[in-house]
Amino acid sequence: MLSPGIIDKLNQQINWEVYSSHMYLQMGAWCSYKSLDGCAMFLTQHADEEMAHMRRLLKYLQETGALAIIGGMEAPPTEFSSLVAMFDKIYTHEQFVTSKINELVHLANTEPDYSTLQFLQWYVAEQHQEEFLFKSILDKIKLIGTEGQGLFLIDQEIGKLVSNPGALEATSNSATAPQA
Ligand code: FEO
Repeated sequence: MLSPGIIDKLNQQINWEVYSSHMYLQMGAWCSYKSLDGCAMFLTQHADEEMAHMRRLLKYLQETGALAIIGGMEAPPTEFSSLVAMFDKIYTHEQFVTSKINELVHLANTEPDYSTLQFLQWYVAEQHQEEFLFKSILDKIKLIGTEGQGLFLIDQEIGKLVSNPGALEATSNSATAPQA
């Protein structure tokens, strides 16, 4: 049985994961609008991963007999000054999500709630991977540069990160020159 404080924090985390999913979906839509098809596929796939993060929390709360609450959330941003600015925003967001997971871990450790503490270890490892992933992408964008063919090459490189492109083909535009 979970304490009211842990239930409340886990429900807040559900909200952050849903917000993350919406944010990536919106960013994927922006990339598609700019004909950055590789980025659009990658971000749309990442939106699905965020929903999987949310469902993992939902299942844990339900297994303990607690009520999972899907709250309202603000709309994600729809405009970005550049592709670099968008990935900067992603990196900052993932650092924020890590801070939220750390707060949960701290609470579970303080109570103590060893079951939740163990459950959260997956999120600790996942956030490490996510921060590493988006830092690597940012480094690669800065290395290649967005001048000339740079943006086209970046889009191709990020498109290679999609694990199952066939599943996302419907989200992709026909190949045209990137505009962002
Ligand atoms: Fe669910 Fe991108 O963290």
